[in-house]
Amino acid sequence: MEEYVFYALEGSRKLGDEVGKLLLELPNVSIGSVESLVFADGETKLRVLDNVKDKSIIILSSTYFPVNNRIMQILILCDGLKRAGAKDITLITPYFGYSRQDRISDPNDPITLKLVTDLYKTSGVNRIITADAHSIYPKGYFSIPVYSVDTHEVFAKKFLEIFNNKGISLENVVVLAPDHGSINRGRKLQSVLPGAVFGSIEKMRVGVNQIRSVSFEGEVENKTVIIYDDIVDTGQTVIEAMKLAKERGARDIYVAISHPIFSSRVHDLFAKSDIAGIIVANTIEGRIMNGIEIVSIGRTLAKRIKKHIISTKNTSNP
Ligand code: R5P
Repeated sequence: MEEYVFYALEGSRKLGDEVGKLLLELPNVSIGSVESLVFADGETKLRVLDNVKDKSIIILSSTYFPVNNRIMQILILCDGLKRAGAKDITLITPYFGYSRQDRISDPNDPITLKLVTDLYKTSGVNRIITADAHSIYPKGYFSIPVYSVDTHEVFAKKFLEIFNNKGISLENVVVLAPDHGSINRGRKLQSVLPGAVFGSIEKMRVGVNQIRSVSFEGEVENKTVIIYDDIVDTGQTVIEAMKLAKERGARDIYVAISHPIFSSRVHDLFAKSDIAGIIVANTIEGRIMNGIEIVSIGRTLAKRIKKHIISTKNTSNP
């Protein structure tokens, strides 16, 4: 039977504990250990402490701040794994750093998401699983297969619990996509909240960290609004969406975020705003202020890995 070793790198340890426990339910999975060293000038060295010859490897690591370090850690680890004879490597990167740079808007722009994926491939990664991919990518966009798991079901479960406790009927709920890229995700969440309706905002970026909204579709007056976005970085997109929804008479506003990067002053911005609740997925660990609820995608990831990556069939020759 094929053997699998699972590694969770720093930055995804809590999620790694949960996923690891679920994978250990299978007879052919073990949890491995990684040794990591940092040289005086900041260079890092990572290596596994297990015999990985002819084994299939699953690495879990989200690549958020410090994003470049985390990417280097993955590349270095994979290089060692391949040299040690690992048969196959699956990278689970729930937050896929650089996914916002997935297309050009100027002829001189890089497509850094493709570059990073190519680097993973060069280091030995055979496939990638992420969560709530930033865009829908055409076949052949990446040099290796990249799959995405959805977070809408774990958010829906949480919202059903909240609305049930507060006596909020789903007929009074609007799922609001704060920009064009969130429309598909928002529609998916709406589809598992029966009775809820959908709205969307069209946003324009006028600088790296500056946005302007250009249109608002949907009826939010006296409604409970869920703003559902994949990434919150500076928080401006969500705050702008809140402002527009409030101006249109929204009763209360919840925010659901797949990847809570939460840079700079985002906590202050949220603390000063009139948000009824903030719910985030655990694709990114840390920088989460008190009062924010966390939903776990651990089961979703483990299910996907068990179903599509790990084979429990006996593949050895008789
Ligand atoms: C944009 O394409 C993403 O979906 C998010 O809306 C964006 O990254 C959020 O950034 P910020 O919190 O800085 O407005």
